Amino acid sequence: MSTSSVPAPFSEAELRLLQALVYQECGMHFDERRSHFLQDRLQRRLKECQLDSFYSYYRLLISREGKDELSRLLENLTVNETSFFRNKSQLEFFHKHILEELFRRKQSHRDYSLRIWSAGCSTGQEPYTLAMLVADALAYYYLRNSLPIEMPSPKPLVPPPWKVEILASDISYSVLRAGQEGIYGETQMASVDYSYRLRYFDKVGERYAVKKALKEIVHFDFHNLKTEYLPQRNDVIFCRNVMMYFDEAEQKRLIDKFHRCLNPAGHLFIGHAESLLGLTEKFTLVHRDSGTAYQKLEVRV
Ligand SMILES: C[S@@+](CC[C@H](N)C(=O)[O-])C[C@H]1O[C@@H](n2cnc3c(N)ncnc32)[C@H](O)[C@@H]1O
Repeated sequence: MSTSSVPAPFSEAELRLLQALVYQECGMHFDERRSHFLQDRLQRRLKECQLDSFYSYYRLLISREGKDELSRLLENLTVNETSFFRNKSQLEFFHKHILEELFRRKQSHRDYSLRIWSAGCSTGQEPYTLAMLVADALAYYYLRNSLPIEMPSPKPLVPPPWKVEILASDISYSVLRAGQEGIYGETQMASVDYSYRLRYFDKVGERYAVKKALKEIVHFDFHNLKTEYLPQRNDVIFCRNVMMYFDEAEQKRLIDKFHRCLNPAGHLFIGHAESLLGLTEKFTLVHRDSGTAYQKLEVRV
């Protein structure tokens, strides 16, 4: 779409300035296809701030006092679409193979900590799905293997001495708040079958609240994937349907950061419309049936 048809007050140069600012702040790339969306959201923010010129809005965004407005603009530009049990074949691969192998390998080194990061977690459906899968996989593993210490009574969700942490991060404070609240309506619950609903949710009126024990293993936090300071020592990273909004240069930088944030032989899961092909040689594709992931390779320096 040509920017010559842009409604006032944005000129092509003004839009480019804004695009550069958004890219610099969070890595999101607005090409011609998505420029209409950017303009629409900008118009709304200008109206909300009761400003009538691009120039005054831009000045606000780059000022110290404009930090909150910059966060609000970025929140308005993110796509937060998500669901429980999204991409089932990939989750099955994670549940049945990757976790099983991780438990076995870790237990053999007497390392009972597990850290999984949902990067770009939106409203929490992804990290809570991972928490349910880990809890079930641990229970199943210890049906077939003996626990190193006696199981306490009542039986906890995570059998000791295991410590499981699911870190859920996003750039948007409003989605982080929703995730932390952990209450979902019937439409959002559509992909959660009854055995999961019964075990991991409490019915509150017409809605479903994530049970306390499951909530305790998921920690929500703000992290901008554009920055260098990201959570380290993860066994698995899920970053699905996030990189697709970045350009190639930013994707490459992010993949390098994920490589540094993963433990040796750790796994990276990305969205089904995303690929690392041609972007890195630091990961190798692993798969089972139609479920795919990328495994970290050690790189000699
Ligand atoms: C489409 S949702 C994907 C949610 C979930 N991963 C899934 O696949 O269902 C993309 C999420 O990435 C977040 N996001 C976008 N840019 C980000 C950045 N620079 N840092 C952290 N999160 C970001 C958005 O706020 C949004 O919640």
